[in-house]
Amino acid sequence: MSLLDQAIVGLLPLVPKPIVRRFSSRYIAGDDLTSAMRTIRRLNSGRLMATVDVLGEFISRLDEANATAAEYERVLAAVQAERLDANISIKLSGFGLLLDQDHCYRLVEELCRAAARRHSFVRIDMEDSSCTTDTLNIYRRLRAAGHDNVGVVLQAYLRRSMEDIEALLPLNPSVRVCKGIYVESENLAFKDPDEIRASYERMVERLLAAGCYVGMATHDPALVRSGEALVRRLGLHPAAYEFQMLLGVAEDIRQRLIDAGHRLRVYVPYGAEWYAYSVRRLKENPRIAGYVLRNLIAGR
Ligand code: FDA
Repeated sequence: MSLLDQAIVGLLPLVPKPIVRRFSSRYIAGDDLTSAMRTIRRLNSGRLMATVDVLGEFISRLDEANATAAEYERVLAAVQAERLDANISIKLSGFGLLLDQDHCYRLVEELCRAAARRHSFVRIDMEDSSCTTDTLNIYRRLRAAGHDNVGVVLQAYLRRSMEDIEALLPLNPSVRVCKGIYVESENLAFKDPDEIRASYERMVERLLAAGCYVGMATHDPALVRSGEALVRRLGLHPAAYEFQMLLGVAEDIRQRLIDAGHRLRVYVPYGAEWYAYSVRRLKENPRIAGYVLRNLIAGR
């Protein structure tokens, strides 16, 4: 990130919430389930699948984890009632991973059951590296208990990810592969963009060649192209994989993929915790953050 970008990002906390909200509205479905449902309907009508993220990973009490789980059950019920094409993405810290792992496991297991009853699927997002081992352990526990409608995420920037793949392969896991969004130290994570891309490609190829279902979560045009070339080379049916993108990002690429016959799932975040999520998105995209600040200074 350039010095100017760093300065812009540093100023973000000073931007009034209504302005952050206006500029982040394309990344967030809204405050509540009603807005999320509206977004899913719109996506589905454009042949896009969805995965719903209830915002709120920063919790300090288990009753907040219970509330998050209950909200996800409402999502599953609403999606099934309208026969929409959407599953759910959860962050284990929002289910109490850092407070009580057994409690977290029980909540997620119950959610997997609820999802199975509604023919749906639970994707466990991957958080920072302090959560990786615990997250994968909970995933393994769920699979050992017979829950097959659950998948994980592995991050290409982590040096350990290829080993994690090898260890998970006997489970024939469903894996979302992404670059990784958290700030990690050099001993744990690749820093060079080309190294991260190479790791991403190796991971996707290893998983697809082993017959695993892969969600290729990226907006990087080079990785999208290599993903397309790989599925062509492996002769895979579009049902064997999907592309995934964040709401409001790279809509031109996403349309091209759909028109080419690939399946694509859009990550749809909603909830009262929209502010923290928006600031994270804006920090990743200083160009938009700069736009926000210029408008603020111009008094618009
Ligand atoms: P890159 O960062 O190079 O972006 C390519 C281009 O896409 C950028 O130049 C920009 O134009 C655009 N772009 C990318 N991100 C943008 C944004 N937020 N706002 C605006 N424009 C943007 N990470 C993680 O650690 N754990 C997880 O569980 C997930 N889950 C997840 C699900 C889905 C569906 C997606 C798409 C991504 C994630 N991620 C994630 C985030 C992921 O790790 C990564 O940080 C972002 O996808 C950005 O990486 P790209 O591969 O898109 O490349």
